[in-house]
Amino acid sequence: MNTPPRVVILTGAGISAESGLKTFRDNNGLWEEHSVEDVATPEAFARNPELVYRFYNERRLQLTNTSVMPNAAHKALATLERALKGQLTLVTQNVDDLHERAGSERIFHMHGKLLSSRCVTTNNTFECNTAFDSLSVCACCNTTTLRPDIVWFGEMPLFMDEISQDIANADIFIAIGTSGNVYPAAGFVINAKDSGAKCIELNLEPSANNWLFDESISGSATKIVPEFVARLIEEYDL
Ligand code: APR
Repeated sequence: MNTPPRVVILTGAGISAESGLKTFRDNNGLWEEHSVEDVATPEAFARNPELVYRFYNERRLQLTNTSVMPNAAHKALATLERALKGQLTLVTQNVDDLHERAGSERIFHMHGKLLSSRCVTTNNTFECNTAFDSLSVCACCNTTTLRPDIVWFGEMPLFMDEISQDIANADIFIAIGTSGNVYPAAGFVINAKDSGAKCIELNLEPSANNWLFDESISGSATKIVPEFVARLIEEYDL
């Protein structure tokens, strides 16, 4: 029996597209309908908090809508986590909860979570599956406002120490459904290559940094991710 490889997987909006959630940069994507500067920066929240609350409230309520379900790609990654027995680090830029609902257990949400609110004073976070706004007070201070628990442009992504360490130790790095435009996530492939990991991209179309990967698999996530997971399980006799 082969030793299981240490695997780091980075997912982006493309993995949730077939669950009915919009990506950011594709045709008709979220950043075509809204400008980043209006809804996804600390300055936007200071300038027009109600617009920012509304943008994330709509996305939160869409997520709790029962028709949005994990798809075959999310489920395949949960299967891979079980097969790799602790050797998989799943890093997602997505703020949805579809990996959790598919059965993945160890996930780093580097850009935060839609189903969570955050106290602006203490940074404490609270599970939240309803709409909230500037009148909603937090459970820790009872006075201060809550903000969406989202990492906005200009803010530091979460879990960077843990992610960097696991990438440094990875045998395989896989990016799924991300356009490779937003750093630091877009640079993970460079760190992984420097550490000697094999780097593989699975995406509908080649990403901005596709040339950095050793292998590139094109197609829709619900088709190519389950096939790829089956291949890894067979190749490593997991
Ligand atoms: N299967 C596989 N890939 C897909 C699918 C699909 N069904 N549909 C779209 N894609 C691919 C697109 O080709 C694109 O390359 O998913 C990618 C989505 O790219 P983006 O919309 O840029 O999303 P992402 O890379 O996750 O964005 C990163 O940008 O605005 C921020 O914070 C936001 O976390 C987000 C970050």
